Amino acid sequence: MSNQTEPAVNVGNAATNAAELAVKCSGVAKGYGVDDSKIMALRGVDLEVNKGELFMLVGPSGCGKTTLISVIAGILDQDAGSCRVYEHDLLHMAGHEKVRYRARNIGFVFQAYNLLPALTAAENAAMPLIINGVKRKEAVKRASEILAEVGIGDRTNALPAQLSGGQQQRVAIARALVHNPRLIVCDEPTSALDHETGARVMELLKRVALDHQRTLVIVTHDARIFSFADRIARMDDGRIEQVVNSPAQLEH
Ligand SMILES: Nc1ncnc2c1ncn2[C@@H]1O[C@H](COP(=O)(O)OP(=O)(O)OP(=O)(O)O)[C@@H](O)[C@H]1O
Ligand SMILES: [Mg+2]
Repeated sequence: MSNQTEPAVNVGNAATNAAELAVKCSGVAKGYGVDDSKIMALRGVDLEVNKGELFMLVGPSGCGKTTLISVIAGILDQDAGSCRVYEHDLLHMAGHEKVRYRARNIGFVFQAYNLLPALTAAENAAMPLIINGVKRKEAVKRASEILAEVGIGDRTNALPAQLSGGQQQRVAIARALVHNPRLIVCDEPTSALDHETGARVMELLKRVALDHQRTLVIVTHDARIFSFADRIARMDDGRIEQVVNSPAQLEH
């Protein structure tokens, strides 16, 4: 792959006023490795996500979706370009400031869930609250309520190894929501869920966006959930190729 960072195509109903934006990426580039073996995962991404929007990101395996949302969430630093979350530039924050900002304002559902094996479902889901200083008992109680909402209220005391893949995925989703963050970023949140459970989770996420004006950026391959999106961006080869308001408009 080359090192080009051409501007990306960007259409759809993005807000023009920066204050209405939850996420604004401009010319974001990110590579892995060095010299000849360098892989350019992002080649100049321009992206605007409105506050309160449920925004989906689709595209083939390896096109850069996880890399992009990791930059947005401040988990990875980009090589070039800027990315602002609620007008904060995470790249230029001091380490401790960034950790605190992320802990308060961002929820992240990892593609591989990343649950802590020695903690129960409720303790895993409670972790962002505990990090933010909420007492353990209260944090576990609130986490258990969200676990019930995603349909696993009867498994709160199970360890991750005692849960099915779909149950683990729902613990990861509960963990991303428990502290009511302003931005929730999900990497394939329904990949291990059956249609009915996936729809239930999406209804919860949609409610979070509508009732609490939270912003969701959701990577997915799951066409069954496209209808929950306010807008969908199609990525290919490290760029945003298209942003649409309805799944029917997606080019394949
Ligand atoms: N840590 C890494 N080191 C080296 N290359 C990486 C690393 N992570 C990702 N890549 C490469 O960067 C490119 C984009 O990867 P990324 O994980 O962002 O894709 P993706 O769109 O999320 O794919 P999938 O749908 O399979 O999850 C791929 O070519 C991948 O091989
Ligand atoms: Mg991925």
